[in-house]
Order: sequence, then structure tokens, then C-alpha cells
Amino acid sequence: MSYVVTGATGQLGRLVVESLLERGVDPAEIVATGRSVERLSDLAERGVRVETLDFDDVPESAPWLAAGDVVLLVSGSEVGQRVPQHTAVVELAKRSGAARIVYTSAPAADDTTLVLAPEHAATERVIRDSGLPFTFLRNGWYTENYVPTVDQARATGVVAGSAGDGRIASAPRADFADAAAVVLSTDGHDNAVYELSGDVAWSFDELAAVLTDVLGREVAYQRLTPAEHHAALVGAGLDEGTAGFVVALDQNAAEGVLGVTTGHLSQLIGRPTVPLAETVGSWS
Ligand SMILES: NC(=O)c1ccc[n+]([C@@H]2O[C@H](COP(=O)([O-])OP(=O)(O)OC[C@H]3O[C@@H](n4cnc5c(N)ncnc54)[C@H](OP(=O)(O)O)[C@@H]3O)[C@@H](O)[C@H]2O)c1
Repeated sequence: MSYVVTGATGQLGRLVVESLLERGVDPAEIVATGRSVERLSDLAERGVRVETLDFDDVPESAPWLAAGDVVLLVSGSEVGQRVPQHTAVVELAKRSGAARIVYTSAPAADDTTLVLAPEHAATERVIRDSGLPFTFLRNGWYTENYVPTVDQARATGVVAGSAGDGRIASAPRADFADAAAVVLSTDGHDNAVYELSGDVAWSFDELAAVLTDVLGREVAYQRLTPAEHHAALVGAGLDEGTAGFVVALDQNAAEGVLGVTTGHLSQLIGRPTVPLAETVGSWS
């Protein structure tokens, strides 16, 4: 039986493979896949099986995916393409006789205003309809999404956005990766849906306070209207579409969609999630 990880060339997938290895999983039982597999040569040297998998060119069968394997489908990064891409992987898993498919989804994917949710909800439906046992990891926001605020704050003393008083229950990627490794390598997660988020939902005023401590300069949160935020982003060089998307995400934050604390993540990983200040402090 093997653990097949898609997106292992990416940040989350790599951390999942590392977490499986730390948990004592035999490297020979891990199949790390992606397109740019040259990035995985160090894992190959440690005995992990490395295979090319392009979601746009999924084979009819794959010698590295056998009956009884557990597949982690890390959602792809090409927004707008993900439903057919994910469907192709689910169908391969089904044809191969996989024992279970674990999918990294989005918070409350089938009942939310989150702008990113529709592709995740559609993928969840495809997986349910496949008849394969599944585990949905509805991952909340990565704390690392806020890495760019450090440079902004360092340069200007301001973190600007239109999230109002919205809170973010983020956790670092490594916490979500540990949860994925746990549900891959232990029993009892068939047809489970986990809403994963950080233990603490922080406000942007609190992020500014953390940045003040970390950078040693006063940082304030500047509340913008959505229109002001959009104009600022376009002025900073973003295209209209990307700016609109960023503003829509801040509206989701303002609505509270990203601030739900469930405790599922810390329960799965058996420890508290890493706090905002600790993660931000590790970047400087
Ligand atoms: N919860 C959050 O805050 C948040 C934030 C950003 C993204 N996400 C989602 O979480 C996923 C993992 O996050 P991440 O930080 O690890 O992203 P990432 O570093 O950008 O990694 C994305 C992975 O997807 C793979 N991929 C993309 N298109 C593919 C294709 N057509 N065929 C095969 N593989 C493909 C990439 O493979 P190659 O590099 O080999 O092409 C890469 O391994 C993202 O893809 C996105 O769906 C969540």
C-alpha cells in the first residue's frame, strides 16, 4: 500500500511528504508526484518514489498507483481549470482501485460565499459521486498568505486592506500538512469532512501589532473601502482581475467566512496550531 501525494512539488505537498517521513512512514511507500519533479530529487535520494503527474495529461493507468493506495489530491493552483483537472485524478484513482482519496478543499466549501469555493465544492461532488471513500480537508487560510504584508509594513508602517473588522483563523502550511499526514496514515477518516483552521482568529489590528513587535517600528492597520482598496492595488501594478479577486477575498474576511475556529486542526495534529506571532516572527 502506498501514499500517493499530488502537488508534492509545491509548498503544501512537500510538507506533507516530510510529515509522513517524520511519522515513520517507509519512504518506499510514498509516491511524490507533480510536474516539475526535478524539484523532488532530494526526496528520491531518500527513497521516496518520484513520478510525473500532469493534471492536464492524466494517464489511463499508472504503475505507481495500485489497488489499496491512499491518494492525497492537493488542489491545483490553476484557478478556473481545477474541476476538470481534479476530475481526471479522481477517475484515475477510481480506475486504479484506490482505497481512499483525501482532498484539500476550502472552508465550508458547499455552503459559503467564499469566492474560491465553487471549484472546491464541485470537486467534492465529483469525489462523492465516484463512490470512493474520501476525506475532505477543508483547509482554512495559510498564515503565509500574509508574507507580503511584512514588506508593505516595513516600507510604509501600514497594513492596508478592506477586511474591516474581519478575523482570520489562519495556521501555517506546516500545520495543515501535519493534518494531511495524520489522515493519510491513520484509520478512522473514511467519509469525514474536517473544517481546519487555526485555534485563534486574529484581527488586522492584531496583525499590525505583531508586525510592530517583529519589525521594531510602529505599524497600523489602515481600513480601506473596497473601492479604495481596488484602486490602491491597481495603482500598485495589479491587473483589474487580480485586484478584484483580492478585494473579494477581503470582503469574505469582513463577512467572517475566514474566521471560524473549529478546533479540528489542533485535534487532528494533537497540539495547538502555531500562533500568528510565532509564524510572522519566523519570517524576519
Ligand atoms: N488555504 C490557503 O490559504 C491557500 C492559499 C493558496 C493556495 N491554496 C490551495 O492549496 C494548494 C496547495 O498550496 P501550495 O501553497 O502548496 O501551492 P503551490 O506551492 O503553488 O503548489 C501547487 C502545486 O500544484 C501543482 N499543480 C498545479 N497545476 C498542476 C497541474 N496541471 N498538474 C499537476 N500538478 C499541478 C504544482 O505542481 P508543479 O509545481 O510541479 O507544476 C504544485 O505542486 C494550491 O494549489 C491551492 O489550490 C490554498
